[in-house]
Amino acid sequence: MYRAGALGVLITFFLIIWATVLMPMVLFNPKPSGHGNNYAVSNKEVADPARGRQVYVREGCFYCHTQFTRLQDRGYGPLVKAGDYVFETPHQLGTARTGPDLTNEGGKYPAQWQKAHLINPRAVKPGSIMPSFSFLSDRDMNDLVAYVQSLGNERKVTAYVEAPAEYMQGTIPKTVDTNSDAAANAGRGLYIQDCAACHGMEGLGNGPNAISLEKKPANFTRPFYKQYSDEFWYYRVTEGVPGTRMPRWGDGGNLNDPRGGILTPEQRWYLVAYLKTLSKDRTSEDTVDKLDQLNSVGIERLPVITKEQWEPHSGEE
Ligand code: HEC
Ligand code: HEC
Repeated sequence: MYRAGALGVLITFFLIIWATVLMPMVLFNPKPSGHGNNYAVSNKEVADPARGRQVYVREGCFYCHTQFTRLQDRGYGPLVKAGDYVFETPHQLGTARTGPDLTNEGGKYPAQWQKAHLINPRAVKPGSIMPSFSFLSDRDMNDLVAYVQSLGNERKVTAYVEAPAEYMQGTIPKTVDTNSDAAANAGRGLYIQDCAACHGMEGLGNGPNAISLEKKPANFTRPFYKQYSDEFWYYRVTEGVPGTRMPRWGDGGNLNDPRGGILTPEQRWYLVAYLKTLSKDRTSEDTVDKLDQLNSVGIERLPVITKEQWEPHSGEE
């Protein structure tokens, strides 16, 4: 009886392993999605992202940074598919998010910022616990930045939280011409008054309030936002973002009531007109294609510290 029980336990164990580990290993063969990272850049003389990837692996960036986005990962950009990783060996999925997810990091900040951040994270992100990588050679550093700037550069939005049907094209009257400069300018005024404290004067998500927020305000200059439709912008501004401190600026009930909400529908459309103007192309001056700018940031090496300075009590008895 005892033996039969033990056998049952063993069979159950291996059945589970077989079904959840071995079978998927054999049967799961995703096709290349065509949206993986593209490590080819024009000016390899300045920096080579493919080599930078090796530096990323060698330095163990994946101990603290993941490279996958899920539906609930608001703010990390377009979602990934299994097929995005077909050519990623070894893949850099990671498991711990001590630092933010880097799936779509490319183009989020200028290359110079990335370099300065790697040399001394605290200099550009006060309070950061990321270690300094100032010990990297010039070549390693530039290649690593080029790699970081290439992350997500081919990724298209194929799935994100969609606006509910009542927001979709045509069902909500657009009371403002969201493509006109005048509307964008009106929106800018509202933005400075209501949004800049969190989203920053230039929409970089770095307003003074951002420091105290667990979920950081959106950076509207990201290329990702080029793909938002007017309706989707309007939906976000009206309903806010659940799970974050992003307020709901509409009343949520009657979408067209001129008196409804903190901001009227017209004001929200003005904001849409302004928000649309903030996102930048990946190819604009702030992104990976101007890798030459990397050389304008010198590598500042941190002072070498003796063991006693690291561990001030080690010498004392
Ligand atoms: C010990 C954990 C740790 C390691 C190792 C680490 N990081 Fe970080 N990283 C962080 C933390 C925490 C933050 C958030 C604070 C900040 O931005 O500095 C961060 C932020 C970042 C950011 C900014 C992300 C954003 O969008 O704000 C980038 C880029 C980055 N790290 C790249 C790297 C690279 C490249 C490496 C490897 C050379 C690396 N990190 C290694 C912890 C780590
Ligand atoms: C209290 C701080 C705060 C204020 C004030 C604020 N926001 Fe936000 N906002 C956030 C946060 C936090 C997020 C969530 C970012 C994320 O999704 O990761 C966000 C997200 C958004 C998004 C969605 C971005 C996306 O990824 O879909 C839009 C659009 C937006 N804000 C517009 C505005 C506008 C317009 C105003 C002013 C009328 C405003 N916000 C005021 C904090 C704020």
